[in-house]
Order: sequence, then C-alpha cells, then structure tokens
Amino acid sequence: MSTVRAIYPGTFDPLTNGHLDLIARGAKIVDHLVVAILRNSEKGEPLFTVPERAEMIAEATRSFGNVSVITFDGLLVECARSHGCRAVLRGIRAISDYEYEFQMAMMNRKLDPALETLFMLPAEKYTYVSSRLIKGVFRLGGDVETLVPPLVMERLRTKMLNSAG
Ligand code: PNS
Repeated sequence: MSTVRAIYPGTFDPLTNGHLDLIARGAKIVDHLVVAILRNSEKGEPLFTVPERAEMIAEATRSFGNVSVITFDGLLVECARSHGCRAVLRGIRAISDYEYEFQMAMMNRKLDPALETLFMLPAEKYTYVSSRLIKGVFRLGGDVETLVPPLVMERLRTKMLNSAG
C-alpha cells in the first residue's frame, strides 16, 4: 500500500495555534507530514532564528508521532521531491488568503505537475491569527497567550526581556 507524505511550508516566525491546528488536521489525513521552514524568507528581519523556530515546532508537534521538521532554501517543489512528498499542505483563513495561495499553487503545479496542493481551513477561532499580528501585538504589550502554544509564549517573553535588557 502506498503512503502519502505531504509538506507544510512556511516562515513560522513564530508558530501560532493556527499553524498547529492545521498541522493537527493535516497529520490526521496523511501518513507523514513534513513541516518545512523557509530559510531565506523575503519577509524582512525575523524575530526568531531558523533553529529557534525549528525547535519550537519540533517540541509542539512531538506528540503527533508522524510530523517532522526540516528547513529549506530555494524552490519548494525541489524540497518536496527530495523528501518524497507528493502534496503541499496550505491553510486558507479567509478569502483574502486565496489569491496569494492560488498563485503559489498554480506556480508550483507549473514547476511540478505531479505535486498536488491541499488546502485546509483552520479552526474558526484562529482565522484572524497570523505570526505578523502576534509579534506586533506582543511588542505593544497585548495579550496573545491563547493564540500561540505555551512554549512559544515563553520564548516570546524571553526575547522581549533580552531585547529590553
Ligand atoms: O506562510 P508563508 O510564510 O507565506 O510561506 C510562503 C512559502 C514558504 C510557502 C513560499 O514563500 C515558498 O514556497 N517559498 C519557496 C520558493 C518557491 O518555491 N517559490 C515558488 C512558488 S511561488
């Protein structure tokens, strides 16, 4: 019987409960899910280093048993191929995500017609959550405790203390 491996790529700076919700949903329908952190993101100066982000994701997903964490540079399709993944998992929170996701999915299909993109919806309570908003609100002293895993919350506090100190 063939097994299905999927790849869930992103910047994850940092992992949110929305990401984690999607990982949980994805891990239920595929045999193995590879969470892939893009190393050379064009999103500007990150808050967390790539190893820090990888550690947080590995710790938060340890209990799933069928999730692994990698980092990558270059084309996603190449990374998917080299890890034996035949599908890309992406979350769509709202219609506003759709255009960007559609373009990426179509470009990935152009680059590798055998690679399918699976879209899943996160729990309703996380539809407005993004890493960018989490960082912005936390920097301004807002409460984001229910929107990120506890281990991410801890690291956010440590970062804040270190940068203040
Ligand atoms: O969730 P994010 O941070 O917007 O994720 C974006 C990501 C990492 C999925 C995307 O930037 C990506 O796949 N980059 C790798 C480069 C690539 O393959 N580009 C062609 C597809 S558009």
